[in-house]
Amino acid sequence: MPTPTLPAPRCAPALAPLLPVVGAATRVPLATGGEAVYANLDNAASAPALAAVAEHVARVLPHYASVHRGAGYLSRVSTELFESARGAVGRFVGARQDDAVVFTRSTTDALDLLSRAVPAGGRVLVADVEHHANLLPWQRSARTTVVPGGPDAAGTAAALEAELAGGGYALLAVTGASNVTGEVLPLRRLARAAHAAGARIAVDGAQLVPHRRVDLAGDDLDWIAFSGHKLYAPFGAGALVGRRDWLDAAEPYLAGGGATLEVGTGGVRWASGPERHEAGSPNVLGAAALARACTALAALPPGALEEHEAALRERLLDGLAALEGVRVVRPDAEDAVGVVTFTVEGHPSSQVAAYLSAEHGIGVRDGRFCAHRFADSLGLSSGALRASTGVGTGSADVDRLLAALRRFLTAGPELRYAVVDGSWGPVGDPRPDPAGFLGADLDRVARPR
Ligand code: ALA
Repeated sequence: MPTPTLPAPRCAPALAPLLPVVGAATRVPLATGGEAVYANLDNAASAPALAAVAEHVARVLPHYASVHRGAGYLSRVSTELFESARGAVGRFVGARQDDAVVFTRSTTDALDLLSRAVPAGGRVLVADVEHHANLLPWQRSARTTVVPGGPDAAGTAAALEAELAGGGYALLAVTGASNVTGEVLPLRRLARAAHAAGARIAVDGAQLVPHRRVDLAGDDLDWIAFSGHKLYAPFGAGALVGRRDWLDAAEPYLAGGGATLEVGTGGVRWASGPERHEAGSPNVLGAAALARACTALAALPPGALEEHEAALRERLLDGLAALEGVRVVRPDAEDAVGVVTFTVEGHPSSQVAAYLSAEHGIGVRDGRFCAHRFADSLGLSSGALRASTGVGTGSADVDRLLAALRRFLTAGPELRYAVVDGSWGPVGDPRPDPAGFLGADLDRVARPR
């Protein structure tokens, strides 16, 4: 059955994607028969590669050789590529001259590394609004205090400020933007509060960096952590950028080659700087991809990214507000990125997500978004749906989601849904098993329209 078209909300003009991404024309099978171009509304979990990033990776791949370890010409080229990537990544987040740019695997990896660099006895403060990457590394330690967040981002900031004011903290670890509500935290204000109380501030930038320009030096932030796979560079690299002193004083995150100056029978002399925490052969392609994503986003006209996402968010919120039974979580956030979480009254979120995929080729996330404590505190213990946009999203993607939800609420799904092997899906799903999909069917279904 064709997807019904939805009247465009209140004269909102159609909006094309801001930048080309790889896979924008990829078709996926529908359980109702036929195929649809995949509508990726799950950018907050993992964003597709920018076309510019994929082109860059393809261009440098023939020149790939060992990094920091070879005398060959291509080893020197690869080493240069890796080291220059630090500069691009650091500049993108407004790093200070002497900040370290450590390449990691992801935000989780970066924050785990930082959690091991807190000076002995240092107390850490976090709020329960964090996703697990910025909660679990800290919560492991008895020196961590987790305070309840407030009713909005300003309330959470106030709760953190009040706790900081009591003194005794070495570090405040806080998200730049929530992966559940999209709310942006007032980082400059929190940096002032942390520093006034003798603490430092580390920002989980996983959801902020893809959406907003960050200024580490200007906002006086001590560290920021983020992931390439959310920043249109899904090649396995993330970064921790910020102050060197704690990192240089910490035990190396991994023990191995590349992190050492000298190894003898008497022991090991470890490197300082980023290398100290980057043992093993570095992920040069991941770093190069991340750097290219940074330069591509930095080249956008000022405000273009924010305007694009604000327009999509407004279109989505307007459309959801018109659907009876749909409840959006914190729709009135003062400042938010393109992340919108909602529930559909009387229907398990996982069933709705399965319907969107099976009958409309739309990808959203459902569940508690690796932010269980926050989701529970928002009354979402049984899960919710999350639609998240990015530079590759256009208004057509948003309109398709709204039309599909409207059909669900008015006509109901075409297929019958049940929990099979622990997850919701259409009964007798005829789509090819995803396990064999790429091998058997990639050429058929991934062709451009
Ligand atoms: N933190 C990631 C998300 O929000 C995994 O989906």
